[in-house]
Amino acid sequence: MPELKKKIAVLGAGNMGAALIGGILKAGVTSREHLRATTRSEAHAREVAERFSIRVTAGGNRAAVEFADLVILAVKPTTLPSVVEEVRDLLREDQILLSLAASLPIALIERIAAANMPVFRAMPNIPVVVEEGATAVSCNSRASAADRDLVEGIFRAVGVVCFVDEENMDAVTALSGSGPAYIYMVIEAMIAGGLKMGLSREISTKLAEQTVLGAAKLVRETGLHPAVLRDQVITPGGVTIAAIHELERHGLRAMLISAVETATNHSRNKTRAVIEKLGH
Ligand SMILES: NC(=O)c1ccc[n+]([C@@H]2O[C@H](COP(=O)([O-])OP(=O)(O)OC[C@H]3O[C@@H](n4cnc5c(N)ncnc54)[C@H](OP(=O)(O)O)[C@@H]3O)[C@@H](O)[C@H]2O)c1
Repeated sequence: MPELKKKIAVLGAGNMGAALIGGILKAGVTSREHLRATTRSEAHAREVAERFSIRVTAGGNRAAVEFADLVILAVKPTTLPSVVEEVRDLLREDQILLSLAASLPIALIERIAAANMPVFRAMPNIPVVVEEGATAVSCNSRASAADRDLVEGIFRAVGVVCFVDEENMDAVTALSGSGPAYIYMVIEAMIAGGLKMGLSREISTKLAEQTVLGAAKLVRETGLHPAVLRDQVITPGGVTIAAIHELERHGLRAMLISAVETATNHSRNKTRAVIEKLGH
């Protein structure tokens, strides 16, 4: 497998970076010797090195980039421009650049990197830490099929992945990037409903979290539209339809549709503001 020989550097082994390191090692995308990471602080570098048994340095971005075939930019969006500028003169056309930074368009990264190289932009979400992430990826025209396979393999190791046109990244950010927060609110409210009706905290939590997990799994495994599955749970004159009537009265679906629409517009505005601020 040629992928096993790929050298990968993760610049910024924070929440996302560390989750990807775990996935990369678990799925065997590359070996420990071929994986390096950087952080800002010494203490965190030690912690990540111990956790994954890989070489991690505080700073050391230049050495990591020189070593790597694939450079993953997992620092915060505000830090990314200075990190890319720091390593710019080392970037090679035969390397791949993969940015996880929200709101930073590929064209902007290309401009800062000033190198004719494949550039990928990914929007993962936080469940990558439990290998159940949802990631959307875009790339520039310099990315080959083999480059795409490599990047896809990394995100498949921590969940599901799909390729999208970059213009859809704001909608992706609003749907799956921020989506876990919406579902946490649903779980939180279902737990509260159980508590209100006298169930213990432990039982309410266990039942609510598994209900969300199980319902999502059923959507995936049956391939049925959620409305069909919902209809299957309804008995005429029964308990579920009484609850659904209440949810419809309060506009649950309209609320979620509006949330994704508002978040998409917010993300578009943020992207525009970033381009104005960092664009040359
Ligand atoms: N978290 C999410 O849900 C999510 C979702 C989608 C996309 N993203 C994107 O993923 C990226 C990382 O987010 P995160 O949540 O993982 O952030 P994070 O936990 O704060 O991680 C950032 C990491 O960057 C390191 N760092 C800072 N400056 C550095 C430098 N100059 N050189 C090397 N490393 C440096 C930090 O080191 P120290 O730990 O030593 O300070 C930290 O480990 C962001 O661009 C974000 O937009 C995140």
